Amino acid sequence: MSANNKVTIGVIGTGIMGPSDMTNLLNVEDVEIAALCDVDDAQLAPAMATAEKRQSKMPDAYKDYRNLLERKDIDAVVIATPDHWHAIQFIHAAQAGKDIYIEKPLSHHIVETQAMVSAHRRHKRVVQVGTWQRSTGEFVQAIDLIRGGTLGKVVHVRTWTTDNRNVGRKPVSDPPKGLDYETWLGPAQPQPYQANVVHWGWRMRKNTGGARTTDWGVHMIDIALLAMSKDQDIIMPNKVVASGGQWSAVNDDRDAPDCVDAIMTFDQQEFALSWSVLRDHPGKPEHGIEWVFADGKTLRAWRGGIKLIGPDGKDLGLKKEPYGETGHWQNFVDCIKSKELPRSSLESMARTTDICHLSNVAVYSGEQIVWDSKKMDIVGKAGKDTWAYRRPYRKGYKLP
Ligand SMILES: NC(=O)c1ccc[n+]([C@@H]2O[C@H](COP(=O)([O-])OP(=O)(O)OC[C@H]3O[C@@H](n4cnc5c(N)ncnc54)[C@H](O)[C@@H]3O)[C@@H](O)[C@H]2O)c1
Repeated sequence: MSANNKVTIGVIGTGIMGPSDMTNLLNVEDVEIAALCDVDDAQLAPAMATAEKRQSKMPDAYKDYRNLLERKDIDAVVIATPDHWHAIQFIHAAQAGKDIYIEKPLSHHIVETQAMVSAHRRHKRVVQVGTWQRSTGEFVQAIDLIRGGTLGKVVHVRTWTTDNRNVGRKPVSDPPKGLDYETWLGPAQPQPYQANVVHWGWRMRKNTGGARTTDWGVHMIDIALLAMSKDQDIIMPNKVVASGGQWSAVNDDRDAPDCVDAIMTFDQQEFALSWSVLRDHPGKPEHGIEWVFADGKTLRAWRGGIKLIGPDGKDLGLKKEPYGETGHWQNFVDCIKSKELPRSSLESMARTTDICHLSNVAVYSGEQIVWDSKKMDIVGKAGKDTWAYRRPYRKGYKLP
């Protein structure tokens, strides 16, 4: 950090989440955005304009993130590229000595998570993962209530999201001028350009994303299990079974599942977790977490709300507590200064991310997956042939 305590930050990936993280960071005192990087000029230009307006100073623009990482005056980076780029950019940023705010999901598959954990242990950077739900009132209250034990023994944990956004059909065409599509693809497998392969749409392709399970599951399963764990040590499943597929959006260019039901069990705890990607949200928020107690009460939490429901379905009138903290991005900057562990630390989010990958591994393989929490790896061969476990990199790219 500079002598005046300023934290100088570069943002890699200026689509939806990069500019959102940038704006949230600019709300924190002592932050300067010194550089922005994107492989698409059309994505970079509006983010540059926003940064200039917010801090009255134009950041420098880059198309190659390695040039941004070379800058000695940059203390920290935000990595907000699509999932298939996270591992390589994260490891390069750690090697360059940057503190890192990395968007969720941490990785694109389990082998990448293992490499990222190793790099983190070696380079010891301050890392916050973009699972900001850990910094919001209703989820913190729910975690405190479950951990406090006064509501009783949890016997089911149910969590879900709704997948109601398809990518449609788009013709193969030349990429637009200003987009370096080859670099956008990076380590992913060769894939002809279509407008719905890139920005946002990459989530719905196995080559670049893991659909709603790594998109939303990583938020929802995270809180569901954090409540059942101590500190940030997310408990890991011992067995995972799942079914799912592209059952609903059949006339669509996506190839990642739009319907998922996964069930996971855990060592030494008498409950099962179910994760669903649904098409509907019957009478519920379109996403949520429910902890069901032995006596039939349910604690439900979602973005913006919390409710305690009796065994007969009646609202028991739980009040949402005021939440005094200042947020996820403030926590990142505070931890850069104090060297404390951020709220969504890397090793903790490595666990949640792998649980989401395990759901996809089980869907893609159709097999029961057995997990070894000490080795943080799949036991035996079942599931290891799937792209959620390991994906070959395109020629010219390798996992550092
Ligand atoms: N925390 C949250 O709530 C939240 C919400 C949405 C998205 N996300 C995550 O944020 C990340 C970005 O998602 P998005 O919705 O903003 O995607 P997006 O497609 O809108 O933006 C990604 C940007 O990265 C750029 N990019 C691709 N490869 C690059 C490279 N090698 N170097 C520099 N730029 C590159 C793309 O051109 C694009 O502008 C994803 O990992 C996603 O899962 C998190």
